[in-house]
Amino acid sequence: MKKLVKKQKITPIIGLQWGDEGKGKGVARIASGLTKKDLIVRFQGGNNAGHTIWHDGVCYVFHLIPSGVFGKAEIHLGAGMVINPGALMEEVQTIIPKVPKLLNRVSVSPHAILTMPTHLILDSVSEKSKGKRKIGSTGRGISPSYTDLILRRALRVGDIFYNDFNKKYKELTLEHTTTLKNVFDYDVPAKELEEKEKTFFEGINFLKSLTIIPSEEIVLKALDKGHKVIAEGAQGALLDVRFGNYPFVTSSHTIASGVGTGLGIPPSYIGESIGIFKAYATRVGEGPFPTELGGKESAEWCRDKKITEEKERFPEPNPNSKSEFEQGVAIRRFGSETGATTGRLRRTGWLDLPLLQYAIRMNQATKLILTKLDILSGFNEIKVCTSYVVDGKGAKEIPFDLSRAEIKPVYKSFPTWKGKLSDYSKKLPKEALNYVKFLEKILGVKIIYVGTGPEEHHVIERYW
Ligand code: GDP
Ligand code: IMO
Ligand code: MG
Repeated sequence: MKKLVKKQKITPIIGLQWGDEGKGKGVARIASGLTKKDLIVRFQGGNNAGHTIWHDGVCYVFHLIPSGVFGKAEIHLGAGMVINPGALMEEVQTIIPKVPKLLNRVSVSPHAILTMPTHLILDSVSEKSKGKRKIGSTGRGISPSYTDLILRRALRVGDIFYNDFNKKYKELTLEHTTTLKNVFDYDVPAKELEEKEKTFFEGINFLKSLTIIPSEEIVLKALDKGHKVIAEGAQGALLDVRFGNYPFVTSSHTIASGVGTGLGIPPSYIGESIGIFKAYATRVGEGPFPTELGGKESAEWCRDKKITEEKERFPEPNPNSKSEFEQGVAIRRFGSETGATTGRLRRTGWLDLPLLQYAIRMNQATKLILTKLDILSGFNEIKVCTSYVVDGKGAKEIPFDLSRAEIKPVYKSFPTWKGKLSDYSKKLPKEALNYVKFLEKILGVKIIYVGTGPEEHHVIERYW
């Protein structure tokens, strides 16, 4: 066997909170410096992800395709992903007018799992059946798709080239519809299934036209030749299926270790991570959120309301209101914190350093990107949670189950700067710099970029 010379290691780019940290923009910026021999890969998740980037003044949201499409690097959808073929086809079609040669650069792993029409139905029906105990999934069939992997019956991308694919598809669909009937007392409407299947099989035909190649092959080859490989994380460390706030998590390994199993790459090829976090915190869906502004009121509001209703009640939310709930609304409004995939209101709160430290440690993040500091411009003061009081006692550790402890965050406040941060293009104002330096000191990691707006150039670079 040919011995590999370890010239390069994979760089994981990982969200350090509950997703939506700005990974898309971070990856796009890093990708713009890559050559056509370099590689950007997704290693987990599916179209539950919504990664937004601005390119030439147009806003794009990527769900399955890595965010580096406007650069030159090759792109690969890795073995650890779950892929809805119809959604992939649609997404590619929206990008092709801008990047006509896109398909020459895209490849997909044969090991990736196919999300089937009945996975979507299982996801929504099982969520509904949970009532108040729901997870608040994105409804993209992610959990049922990964469930089938573990049950050892999933259909994989490589299966589409075998003659028995349709037979296997029918058998598994029948298992799903039987479960829907027997467990959830749900009859799948024939018309709904038929429509979904039409898109699914169109997507399968589209997949057949793509380059299918094992992740480990394409990745090791690139590394062996000394090319750069960027692994674009989806979701965030706190949504990891094992190490996140279980059960309010997604169904894959979102952390840097997931790169190994998601691509079939030995750990020694995985380098230090770049961690991305926002200057505040957001969470979409259910689950504990110690620093949520407005606590339960916010969680319930975001579960039930639409952005139009919020705009009616708070036409101009006051960031300096005495009501924490309204402060949370202000962050949501200024930061456009509605889901890039589902349009749901994202719950908002202050930055949580104990959880961030946990995520940094777990991912060995040795460089950080801080996004959306500009959103806090209108606040007179901003807060950061530096520690917790748990069940009445000061705590050094994060409780095992955040939802079963009474957590009171301890905050430190910082004054803000004059005017809008987006007006500062080269240097951060003194107050913002103090805040950034404080974070670096507590976290023990350098912040290499500070985001000052949604577009790729809205960034202040440090340490270059
Ligand atoms: P992802 O899932 O981690 O890629 O993040 P999302 O795309 O779901 O959400 C992040 C949102 O914040 C997107 O709308 C980005 O355009 C936007 N964004 C990213 N960085 C910044 C920043 O520094 N400032 C502002 N104002 N917006 C940003
Ligand atoms: P990006 O990559 C934010 C959340 C859902 C739900 C939980 C489980 O854009 O950061 P799932 O559909 O995966 O079974 O949902 O995880 N979730 C995300 N939240 N950003 C995401 O992706 C998310 N992907 C899933 O809201 O709480
Ligand atoms: Mg997102």
